[in-house]
Amino acid sequence: MANLPGTFGRYPTTRLRRNRRYGWSRRLVAENVLTPADLIWTVFVRPGKGEAEPVSSMPGVERVSADVLAERAREAFDLGIPALAVFPQTPPELKTPDGDEALNPGNLVCEAVRAVKNAVPDMGVVCDVALDPYTSHGQDGLVRDNYVVNDETVEILCRQAINQVEAGCDVIAPSDMMDGRIGALRQALDAAGHEETLLLSYAAKFASVFYGPFRDAVGSATSLGQGDKRTYQMDPANSDEALREVALDIEEGADMVMIKPGMPYLDIVRRVKESFSLPTYVYQVSGEYAMLMAAGERGWLDGEGAIMESLLGFKRAGADGILTYAAIRAAKTLKGIASDS
Ligand code: PBG
Repeated sequence: MANLPGTFGRYPTTRLRRNRRYGWSRRLVAENVLTPADLIWTVFVRPGKGEAEPVSSMPGVERVSADVLAERAREAFDLGIPALAVFPQTPPELKTPDGDEALNPGNLVCEAVRAVKNAVPDMGVVCDVALDPYTSHGQDGLVRDNYVVNDETVEILCRQAINQVEAGCDVIAPSDMMDGRIGALRQALDAAGHEETLLLSYAAKFASVFYGPFRDAVGSATSLGQGDKRTYQMDPANSDEALREVALDIEEGADMVMIKPGMPYLDIVRRVKESFSLPTYVYQVSGEYAMLMAAGERGWLDGEGAIMESLLGFKRAGADGILTYAAIRAAKTLKGIASDS
């Protein structure tokens, strides 16, 4: 450009607004697109039959029983959403310090996985691996002398993962941030004959206040009390460290990696995608969803528009896909179908 004479390449010869003038030209030059195939729908399950109860801090989100989830999974799949990720609201009486319920083949997650795979065999099912839905203290691992211990936790996580895979889970997604868990999970799964199970690592998971509504939804907030997860989840101040986390997880056998939360961490998404070129996902977490929807409900912004813009922003930052509570809503918008709520 510098070698060309005159004002070529500059205003007034160049007018970037030309490409923006019409709908057709904007569509033609669009660099990124969002499709339902980019979405993983995050869902909450509760015990019972025919149950659907609203999560008060997450407008439009419900905790549903496994049978209801199976019906909704069909709807999601028909909208083009490839996979869903299940999170259980374990009844408090089943929570223990060591989270043994995680190993119960009849637990809520396993029931939900079986129901979904039964109803929609071709839909991918992702299960979280971490003990927080099952521990009475709400931490993701075993607590010894007030510290979440690493290696002992990893052993239980391996058993939790196998339990979920035996129920039919396709993708194991460890969200616990223990060191070495990806390698240990890969070995344990392979040894149990599950070499086809995918590992989606919550590789760069930050200790974030944006998980607040989720902890309400699954009931771990009450258990956690004033506690926090800063001895294992990452410090929001760090970015190079996220790359080390991802590098280690790749070496240990992760098929896909995730960055979480989403909107405040788009720089991490970009760096991870550029550094490693592997399937990279981002989790639009409960607090991000709640903020956008709550502002929408109050009429402070266009909630629908805000959700769509945020999802496209994740794609632009380099994400191959997004875990979001708004998956159904967004897929309908993309297909021009109005949402009822
Ligand atoms: C559990 C887990 C959490 C989330 C996903 N898996 C909460 C936490 O780490 O406390 C948060 C998801 C969200 O906020 O939407 N380890």
